[in-house]
Amino acid sequence: MTTPNIKLNSGHDMPIVGFGLWKVTNETCADQVYNAIKTGYRLFDGACDYGNETECGQGVARALKDGLCKRSDLFIVSKLWNSFHDQPNIEPICKKQLADWGVDYFDLFIVHFPIALQYVDPKDRYPPGWYNDASGKEVKRSNASIEETWRGMEGLVGKGLAKSIGISNFRGVLIMDLLRYAKIPPATLQIEHHPYLTQTGLVKYAQENGIAVTAYSSFGPHSFLEMDMKEAKDAPLLLDNPAITQIAEKHGKTPAQVLLRWATQRGVAVIPKSNNQGRLKQNLEVGGGWDLGKEEIEKIGGLDRGLRFNDPLHYGVNLPIYV
Ligand SMILES: NC(=O)c1ccc[n+]([C@@H]2O[C@H](COP(=O)([O-])OP(=O)(O)OC[C@H]3O[C@@H](n4cnc5c(N)ncnc54)[C@H](OP(=O)(O)O)[C@@H]3O)[C@@H](O)[C@H]2O)c1
Repeated sequence: MTTPNIKLNSGHDMPIVGFGLWKVTNETCADQVYNAIKTGYRLFDGACDYGNETECGQGVARALKDGLCKRSDLFIVSKLWNSFHDQPNIEPICKKQLADWGVDYFDLFIVHFPIALQYVDPKDRYPPGWYNDASGKEVKRSNASIEETWRGMEGLVGKGLAKSIGISNFRGVLIMDLLRYAKIPPATLQIEHHPYLTQTGLVKYAQENGIAVTAYSSFGPHSFLEMDMKEAKDAPLLLDNPAITQIAEKHGKTPAQVLLRWATQRGVAVIPKSNNQGRLKQNLEVGGGWDLGKEEIEKIGGLDRGLRFNDPLHYGVNLPIYV
């Protein structure tokens, strides 16, 4: 099965459905990436912070060796972690991440969070996480501005290390500022996006300015239950919400497919993660071929309650980027 593409402002095509790699375990990751390629996935959403890029690369290498696809068929995404925002650190860490994946360019390299933390040498600890030392107590900020970091990101494009560059977890005001000085505008904005957090104004602003939006955590609280997050345990499950299950039943689809199609039908890309082969396959079938009605889209959007899960404050990290 092939999925439709979104044309990015960089001129490159990005599949509208991909496979998210957060919380995919090191033990299973290579096999899962290989299986996902076999199932038809072409976009892989990785990051330094997920701690599994070497295993992701092993899965890709095996798929290429077995002739399942060519490198040019794949769209490999990775992210710049907060500890590497200072300009001199950007190219070396990108090259390390490329080496981990076993590829010589990323299709898309994203600033993971608009937060600069002090450098942690990968020889000492990798991935570094939020804390400056292994004791997990100190969050130390660095002075790198977003402008400085973005110049470093632009340098990656110039050197052919990234075909497109993007941002994640940025709010509207920061994007407005970034667009004033960016020589290369961000190609994509990756944000938490589900019916409990529709971020309609932000999606509209990004899309109007030629920035493609990618949704993460499309199933809302579900992903954060695995992390035992209080906010997720307190929230009603989106996959069980009667508004979603009724629409799913009507279309002969699963609630997960309805949540994903609700995004893709509005031009928002999705990157669901699944450890299960059946769910992996159904999550891919949301790029087209069936449509929700206008009223159904509005009804799903009406579930918005501004409920955000992936907030540093919920992890006990005192960085209030969303307030
Ligand atoms: N930029 C950022 O800051 C950021 C933050 C978070 C995530 N992300 C990216 O976005 C990706 C997706 O987000 P996410 O991992 O938070 O969660 P998600 O894809 O919204 O949800 C994953 C959870 O849903 C379950 N699931 C998957 N497909 C399902 C289906 N068809 N029916 C029922 N349950 C299903 C999975 O369980 P099973 O595995 O058992 O199927 C897992 O528990 C991440 O992997 C990562 O690449 C980016």
